[in-house]
Amino acid sequence: MSWRKFLIIPKVISLQRRAPREVGMRWNEYWASVRQTGAHGDVLWDADSPREAQRYLSLLRQHSDMSLPIIDVGCGNGRLTRMLADTFPFALGVDLAPNAITRAAEESHGIGNLAFRSLDMTAPAVGQQLAAELGDANVFVRGVFHVLDRSARQTMAANLRDLLGVRGTLLLAETDFPGSSLDYLEQLGATPTHLPRPLERAIAAGIPQPTRFGNAEFAGCFPADQWQPLVTEATVIGTVPMRGMDDPGTVPGFLAVLRARQEVPDNPAST
Ligand SMILES: C[S@@+](CC[C@H](N)C(=O)[O-])C[C@H]1O[C@@H](n2cnc3c(N)ncnc32)[C@H](O)[C@@H]1O
Repeated sequence: MSWRKFLIIPKVISLQRRAPREVGMRWNEYWASVRQTGAHGDVLWDADSPREAQRYLSLLRQHSDMSLPIIDVGCGNGRLTRMLADTFPFALGVDLAPNAITRAAEESHGIGNLAFRSLDMTAPAVGQQLAAELGDANVFVRGVFHVLDRSARQTMAANLRDLLGVRGTLLLAETDFPGSSLDYLEQLGATPTHLPRPLERAIAAGIPQPTRFGNAEFAGCFPADQWQPLVTEATVIGTVPMRGMDDPGTVPGFLAVLRARQEVPDNPAST
């Protein structure tokens, strides 16, 4: 790895100068700036990869109750919500950014068994509120925990637990890049003289940089006394082409399928 990667830093700092302070606003401005989605679009992670989608569907078919609705948490432009609606009786996509929800709804026009809603899934008790409306549900999450800080991850995990209830299954897929932030930028095609457009757009909006989400982070958010993992595996998360028009990128990732344990041991401190 060469020292030249450090020359990427000034470009990143200069691009981020005008980003809003608040993280929700950053996501919302990011989605407002998107002109095109899909394999050759502006959205870095919107890979539209049949192989990745098939892996998720195959795991869900194997491990979830397919008669339940499914909630796509952090749904973005709703590509994967639409895939889930093809397979489950009803799919709800939720996202912090109202502009993501507007785009998802536009891209899903005419599909009957799906809906979108703007929701912060790290807000306390939001899981209970949605569960009161939908009953037990399956949950799908791709690329959201890796942009949350530690405390937000804990609140989101508690909300997901409420959404699952007794019968639901959670499928979680996150990036787990092992190097530094600069190594990650290089992996995504950044050089001292060039940033691929989808990457430039994400940096300019100031959306949170992904951090590792692998076995250790998973165990911190989903402790074994409260959660029952059915599958954990290394995977790859697709990106749109970053180095040429036709060559989709990938980032190392982590995938888990799990259920909420129903008999959680009493907290000794509370007795
Ligand atoms: C990396 S994108 C992944 C989008 C989508 N899951 C996909 O794979 O195409 C992360 C998404 O999570 C949303 N998000 C971030 N924080 C959130 C929160 N607290 N509650 C709900 N959505 C959130 C962002 O607006 C963004 O659309």
